[in-house]
Amino acid sequence: MPKPGGGDEGAGPRHVAIIMDGNGRWAKARRLPRVAGHRAGAEAVRRTVRAACEMGLEALTLYAFSSENWRRPATEIADLMGLLRRFVASELEEIARNDVRLKIVGDWRKLEPDIVAMLDDAIARTASNRALTLAIALNYGARDEMLRVTRRLMREARAGEIDPDALDEAVVEARLDTAELPPLDLLIRTSGEVRLSNFLLWQAAYSELVFTDTLWPDFDAAALSAACDVFAGRERRYGGL
Ligand code: FPP
Repeated sequence: MPKPGGGDEGAGPRHVAIIMDGNGRWAKARRLPRVAGHRAGAEAVRRTVRAACEMGLEALTLYAFSSENWRRPATEIADLMGLLRRFVASELEEIARNDVRLKIVGDWRKLEPDIVAMLDDAIARTASNRALTLAIALNYGARDEMLRVTRRLMREARAGEIDPDALDEAVVEARLDTAELPPLDLLIRTSGEVRLSNFLLWQAAYSELVFTDTLWPDFDAAALSAACDVFAGRERRYGGL
């Protein structure tokens, strides 16, 4: 069976995803408000996107706002949305210049209309770029993604467009938010927490997982490179020997 993803031992990953965690603890350690941690987190996003370009990654998927993050105080949600607006406004030129294609995963059309319009514009402007695909997960939850896929498949079956007996993994994958991205090779979580928190559950089935104690605002090119080195040293067997 062909190996899905980053290929043989020693090769680097093609697609890396990151659960960016620890902004709050970074701020707390400095007696700063949580928003200061998120601001520093946005700087880490800038650094990491640049590093991913320089390393020649094909795709980088960042968990910026989960479908569960709506449970946070309204002021923190507003801070995060403000940072997202600022990130897109300030980074779009560089992203476009570096041949980066922007993609959003999650049920993001439920965000505020000005953000949806801004993202639609950024996606359209970078659609033909071919170096890195930067996928930002917004209002994303893996169970929600699977429910959206299931609803769509059931509608297609009801309309006679798909035969339930012909359903296979490729049919599901083609309907995931990540449909045209390479297989997920490496999933990193920062800040010492060891769980997946409803992120890319289907896609991570055969991914290598790297958990680092580094808090997200301290993440940088060296940390990304170290995680990729761990990946390159692992033997991937996909259930074989
Ligand atoms: C987790 O830290 C981080 C988030 C919930 C949001 C991630 C957001 C950013 C990195 C900034 C903005 C993003 C973009 C794309 C510009 P936490 O608050 O859960 O940290 P804690 O567990 O230490 O409290």
